[in-house]
Amino acid sequence: MKGIILAGGSGTRLRPLTKVTSKQLLPIYNKPMVYYPLETLLQAGIKDILVIIAPDHAGDFLKLLGSGKDFGCDFTYEIQDKPEGLAQAFLIGEKFIGDDSVTMVLGDNLFEDDFSEAIQSFESGARVFAKEVPDPERFGVVEFDENMKALSIEEKPAQPKSNYCVTGLYIYDNTVVEKTKRLQPSDRGELEITDLNMMYLQDETLDVAKVHGRWFDTGTFESWYEATNFARERAMQESA
Ligand code: G1P
Repeated sequence: MKGIILAGGSGTRLRPLTKVTSKQLLPIYNKPMVYYPLETLLQAGIKDILVIIAPDHAGDFLKLLGSGKDFGCDFTYEIQDKPEGLAQAFLIGEKFIGDDSVTMVLGDNLFEDDFSEAIQSFESGARVFAKEVPDPERFGVVEFDENMKALSIEEKPAQPKSNYCVTGLYIYDNTVVEKTKRLQPSDRGELEITDLNMMYLQDETLDVAKVHGRWFDTGTFESWYEATNFARERAMQESA
């Protein structure tokens, strides 16, 4: 199992904080944001990790993360020239992925859960993780039937069909590269991860698991602030 941390994008919603640095390098309490998704991968035993970054501030990521030696892993770096969608990561990472499966985590997502079991037990298809939220229209939204079987996923729908959103942790088998090559850019010009997940859903190989603990997409001031409070509480508990 390979790992990808996608830390591209320009962080426009966090301006002016992101004028001189990258969103994923901003602090969440006592660590840079990108440490949290990195810890999610490391906790699951993933040691071969591709970090995909925007061209601006790429040097700062190298300075912060280095070779991976300090974290007990190996980092490979690639540049995402333009924010052309989350799924583009699998085209950029084609060579890196090789013949393996891949777990991708977004560089601005902070999870409380330990996903070791979900990642280590993965065999084929795709596995994504849903969380009930008060503001699903901000996210990819998954609709379930009465047996909690996923029926559809919609990207940022005006009228969400449920309160369950797809969080920024995705496990895919090796067909992800070939599937991504068949994706068409959406109206906003991006290769949408939601369209990719829909392909697996149509193949009946999409498994939607639940996120049990707290989860934050820290891309807005409010969620960034909440995540900071959570990280602080957790750090206090750990040191108590
Ligand atoms: C992206 C995805 C969305 C997902 C979210 C999780 O949205 O497009 O489906 O629910 O990440 O963080 P973004 O935060 O890039 O707008």
